[in-house]
Amino acid sequence: EIKVCVVGLGYVGLPLLKLIIEKGFFAIGLDIDKQKVDKILKEGIAVTTRPDEALNNADCIIVCVPTPIDESYRPDLKFVISAMRTVSKYLKNDSIVILESTVAPGTTEEIAARILGESGFKAGVDFYVAHCPERIDPGNKKWTVRNIPRVVGGINKQSTNIAYAFYVEILNSEVIKMSTVKAAEAVKIVENTFRDVNIAFVNELAKSFDKIGIDTVEVIKGASTKPFGFMAHYPGCGVGGHCIAIDPYYLIEKAEKSGFNHKFLKLAREIN
Ligand SMILES: NC(=O)c1ccc[n+]([C@@H]2O[C@H](COP(=O)([O-])OP(=O)(O)OC[C@H]3O[C@@H](n4cnc5c(N)ncnc54)[C@H](O)[C@@H]3O)[C@@H](O)[C@H]2O)c1
Repeated sequence: EIKVCVVGLGYVGLPLLKLIIEKGFFAIGLDIDKQKVDKILKEGIAVTTRPDEALNNADCIIVCVPTPIDESYRPDLKFVISAMRTVSKYLKNDSIVILESTVAPGTTEEIAARILGESGFKAGVDFYVAHCPERIDPGNKKWTVRNIPRVVGGINKQSTNIAYAFYVEILNSEVIKMSTVKAAEAVKIVENTFRDVNIAFVNELAKSFDKIGIDTVEVIKGASTKPFGFMAHYPGCGVGGHCIAIDPYYLIEKAEKSGFNHKFLKLAREIN
C-alpha cells in the first residue's frame, strides 16, 4: 500500500486529497493553517499540521501551495520553497514529489528538485520529481478535479512515468505526458495568459467601439457566427481571481531573466 501526502489544502489541495482517499489510497493532508486543519478534521478527513505525521514514509507527495506575486508584481516562491524544505526532511528512497502549484518553466527542476536534493538523496535517481499543473475551476460542476484532462512532465523519464501512472489511477480523464517538465509548466501559464491576452483585446475593442458608436457584444456575436478561426471573448471589468491576473507575471519574469521581453503579455496586464 502506498502512502500519499497532499501538502497545502486550499482550493486545489483539498478536493485532490478527497479524490485520492475516495480512490482507496492511504492519504493524509498537511497544512500550516491550524484553523483550516481543525475544520477539515471535522469532516472526518485525515489532515494534520505536523510534518512528521504527514510525511514520514510517504511514497507520493503532492505540493499544492500558493504561488502569488509580491507588491512589485514579482513571482513569490516562498511557499513553494518552505514546503519543499519541509518535504526534503522526510524524503525517502523511491518516493515521488509532484508540484501542482502554477510555476514558471524551470521552477520544478531548478528550485523544487534542488531543495529536495539537500536531503542527500539524488533527484531523478533516488527519488523522482514531476509537475502536473492543476486546472481546477472552483465552483464548476461540469469540469472538476476528476474529469479535467491533465498534463504531466517529470525531470526525467522515470519521474514522468511514475507521475503519469498515479494520475491515470485517480482521474477519469485523459492524462498527457509532456516531453519535459518545463513544457508541462509552460502549458499552464499559456492557458492562463491566453485568457488574459484575449480579454485584454476585447476590453480594448470595447473602449474603441464606444468612441466609434458600435455595440461590441453584438460585433463579437456576429464574429462568432464564423465557424472556424474565431473564439468569442467578452469585455468586462478585467480579470481577477487567483490565477489569470497573476500567472502571466511568472512567464514575464522568467523570459526577462532569459533575455526576452514579453511586450504583449505586459500590455495585456496593463489593459486588464
Ligand atoms: N484556486 C484555483 O482555482 C487554482 C486553479 C489552478 C491552479 N491553482 C494554483 O494552485 C496553487 C494553490 O492554489 P490554491 O488556490 O489551492 O491556494 P490556497 O491559498 O487556497 O491554498 C493553499 C494552502 O497551502 C497552505 N500552505 C502554504 N504554505 C504551506 C506549507 N509550507 N506547508 C503546508 N501548507 C502550506 C496554506 O495554508 C493554504 O491552506 C497555486 O499555485 C495556484 O496558482 C489554483
